[in-house]
Amino acid sequence: MVALFEPIQIGANRLQHRVVLAPLTRLRADENHVIPPDLAIEYYSQRATPGGLLISEGILISEDAGGFPGTPAIYTEEQISAWSKVTQAVHAKGGTIFAQIWHSGRAGTALYTKNHTPPVAPSPIPARGLNVFLNNQPFETPRELSIDEIQDVIQEFVTAAKNAIKAGFDGVELHGANGFLLDQFINSQSNKRTDEYGGSIKNRTRLIFEVADALIDAIGVERTAYRFSPWGGNADVKDDTPYQTWSYILEHLNPKLAYVHFVEPRDDYVRATPDFENSLDPFRKIWKGPFISAGGYSTNPELISSVAEEKPRNLIAVGRAFIANPDLVERLKHQWPLNKYNRDTFYTPGAKGYTDYAFYEPKD
Ligand SMILES: Cc1cc2nc3c(=O)[nH]c(=O)nc-3n(C[C@H](O)[C@H](O)[C@H](O)COP(=O)(O)O)c2cc1C
Repeated sequence: MVALFEPIQIGANRLQHRVVLAPLTRLRADENHVIPPDLAIEYYSQRATPGGLLISEGILISEDAGGFPGTPAIYTEEQISAWSKVTQAVHAKGGTIFAQIWHSGRAGTALYTKNHTPPVAPSPIPARGLNVFLNNQPFETPRELSIDEIQDVIQEFVTAAKNAIKAGFDGVELHGANGFLLDQFINSQSNKRTDEYGGSIKNRTRLIFEVADALIDAIGVERTAYRFSPWGGNADVKDDTPYQTWSYILEHLNPKLAYVHFVEPRDDYVRATPDFENSLDPFRKIWKGPFISAGGYSTNPELISSVAEEKPRNLIAVGRAFIANPDLVERLKHQWPLNKYNRDTFYTPGAKGYTDYAFYEPKD
């Protein structure tokens, strides 16, 4: 437990422990993609601790970023104002909160883009399989982004990042993981472009660096972070050379960014069969700054302290167990038992399964 409760610096923020709320889409926003202020304040502040880092659910960057019913966004004043109430509440408890900003690319749907235009992607290749967020409908065939439109997307990320800072977030985590737009550019299976954004690793990762550089210019290096998932799993992305591709990314991002955040291959949330053979260690070795690992800690909570102990500069992001245990940090500190999560209420509206999980009451 010692390392888990040691302070660590993230950008301009001095954290007091290394237990992080993973980004978790909860689909509670209204039809204007506005988070429900009161409920969301309660949800995030229940999980805030002095010197603890929370990462928000994926927040859509623009009207064309797709998403699903209930996903929040950050491109209108109303959305910004609702988020600012959440960040104030987290800060009042001494917590730190980063916004995860997100474009769903081909994993979205024409139902939720402005003017109902098809979702966009690096290449016009639909993801195979069914979209669980759209009543298990097949994924739609996306439209290939032109070079000019790629520049527009970069600007949308910049605007969303500035809006997040305006809303009081301490920083921004770019969602470069889980088969969404930025990840679709990285992976060789979803990116078949023949221009400077496709083909070689250098070209498929060009957008990753362009977005990072634009954000660093706009909001500062200490407020910019990235999430990646080298082993695919969600929305049918796969890369031919994961170790080479994400090593290249890290070598070229070093020593920039507040942190990088990697999804473990053993994450059974996006994979039917967790992969224990592959490891994040080669990436940990490359990255010189704080490294967050996520995935698999909810089903094996004993790994939380052992990974923090064994891996220097490693923070642990917890998803499902943090949904079910608003006081997860205290429970880990005192080795109190954990509540079980209920998958049925992950994405349902209202307080049930969102703000009504019990806090631990120690017995005298
Ligand atoms: C309900 C739910 C929503 C999620 N939403 C997001 C999201 O918005 N962005 C993201 O990067 N990952 C998302 N994830 C993945 C989690 O951040 C995390 O990687 C995953 O749950 C594995 O961690 P765990 O084993 O501790 O649950 C979500 C997972 C769950 C269960």
